[in-house]
Amino acid sequence: MVTPMPNAPQTYKPINLAEKLSLFSDQWQQRVIAEMNDYQFKVVKIEGDFLWHDHPETDEAFLIIEGELRIDFEDGAVLLRKGEIYVVPKGVRHKPYAAHEVQMMLIEPRGTLNTGEEGGESTAQNDVWI
Ligand code: NI
Repeated sequence: MVTPMPNAPQTYKPINLAEKLSLFSDQWQQRVIAEMNDYQFKVVKIEGDFLWHDHPETDEAFLIIEGELRIDFEDGAVLLRKGEIYVVPKGVRHKPYAAHEVQMMLIEPRGTLNTGEEGGESTAQNDVWI
């Protein structure tokens, strides 16, 4: 028999990616769906060009759920399709681009900004749960 931790209530409810993605339609605002230690799992829809940036303190993982995402680097690019993951190493400048809407999950430490060191008006709000 499993005794629940007194301060960590279990809900025994799975987190469904498609269901979470069906709850919003705006683009670029990432939403947290789960945490593991100090890492967050975030879903987001994007379309078009983002700005060049890097994350000096952390790698950043992209998992494509729908659509295609190209990530440009200063010396090349990677094209990611549904079901594929790519990890951008920390400190490497990159620019995501989606010709059509892409739905994806980001996995990165809590507090990581989407614009990295660049900041500015494209910076999405952090810790928005859905
Ligand atoms: Ni990034």
